[in-house]
Amino acid sequence: MTWSGSSAAADLRRLDAATAHLEAPFAIVDMAAFRANAAAMVSRAAGKPIRLASKSVRCRYLIEHTLGMTGFRGILAFTLPEALWLSESGMCGDIVVAYPTADQPALARLAADPATAAAVTVMVDSPEHLDLIEKAVTGLADPRPIRVAIDIDAGYEALGGRFRAGARRSPIRTPAAATQLAKAILARPGLRLVGLMAYESQIAGVGDDPPGRPLYARAVRIMQRRSAGELAARRAAIVAAVRALTPLEFVNGGGTGSLAATAAEPAVTEIGAGSGLYHPTLFDSYRGFTGRPAAMFALPVVRRPGPGVVTALGGGYPASGPGTASRVPSPYLPAGLRLDREEGAGEVQTPLIGATADQLKIGDTVWFRHAKAGELCERFTELHLVDGDTVVATVPTYRGEGQAFA
Ligand SMILES: Cc1ncc(COP(=O)(O)O)c(C=O)c1O
Repeated sequence: MTWSGSSAAADLRRLDAATAHLEAPFAIVDMAAFRANAAAMVSRAAGKPIRLASKSVRCRYLIEHTLGMTGFRGILAFTLPEALWLSESGMCGDIVVAYPTADQPALARLAADPATAAAVTVMVDSPEHLDLIEKAVTGLADPRPIRVAIDIDAGYEALGGRFRAGARRSPIRTPAAATQLAKAILARPGLRLVGLMAYESQIAGVGDDPPGRPLYARAVRIMQRRSAGELAARRAAIVAAVRALTPLEFVNGGGTGSLAATAAEPAVTEIGAGSGLYHPTLFDSYRGFTGRPAAMFALPVVRRPGPGVVTALGGGYPASGPGTASRVPSPYLPAGLRLDREEGAGEVQTPLIGATADQLKIGDTVWFRHAKAGELCERFTELHLVDGDTVVATVPTYRGEGQAFA
């Protein structure tokens, strides 16, 4: 579904009405859009459960709310302290930490508590990780076995390795390398190998339909098609090789941008995804996923430098990544505003240019979308949940709960 201009204008009236009592800056989640996005994600996963990428939500209430929906199962956390926090709060008994940890006290905490050790799985990709875990639990009276999963490199390589697409993550790329690490894990009585994960960021995290860039779009599609074919065969071979050594509880793959394609691979048992729920601007240019903007932030207009320009308070919340223009927040509503190329979104003020600027008064609200999903929650202590034209709840973000994990 495309989000048409008239829907956006109706949204502006509705969101302004719902939040008229709030003083900007503030952040909201439009719950109707959030639910529609969740349903679209579940439908694309075609029966395979979605493990919720918590980094892309960063709000305990919304994580719990989503886990209550059919089609979502378990959390894909981003740090071990975060996983311990979520597990110890009793929210979820199935948490996989998607990135390796070197945090010795957190590993010791994990091994010391039977319930937490049964709920949390940590990611490894080298014998060094195994050594670190063993070192962390040395000296504990009765350490519980640590659940581990192997991270597999799902990147795409061509031209004998001279071309590479995809995040640089694990060194484990082949069935032989995975077998070797799996054997090393199985040889250590303090560890339990329970799963595999292979995240294809070059497909799930790269939009294949960027507006106004037909040649780039074509190159992305060719790369993604080749990568998907290569990965499906390699992932299946790796899964078969490791399953020949030990049963696995899960094989995790994919993300919001590849839900349907990854779910179609028989070797994959679950998809890790979350960004689609908030639908930030980086997810506007996918053929494989369409959704509605759900997370937004509102800034007040505080001055008018001249005709055709107003200035909003704050707004400089760039997203992580390569530092390109795609990572900058976008003015969303009212339509017809754009950032100043020279200033972008500023630390303390953001000029907005365009015909609409002259219709705005000082004190009016401008709505923005963030480029990425959960990072917005590092800028606000709470999210106002809007249903229809009412704020139905106000819930803390991770930051609002005093938690900053990465
Ligand atoms: C391991 C892993 N799985 C899945 C995802 C996809 O998450 P999302 O759908 O929130 O973009 C990511 C994102 O970076 C990831 O690192």
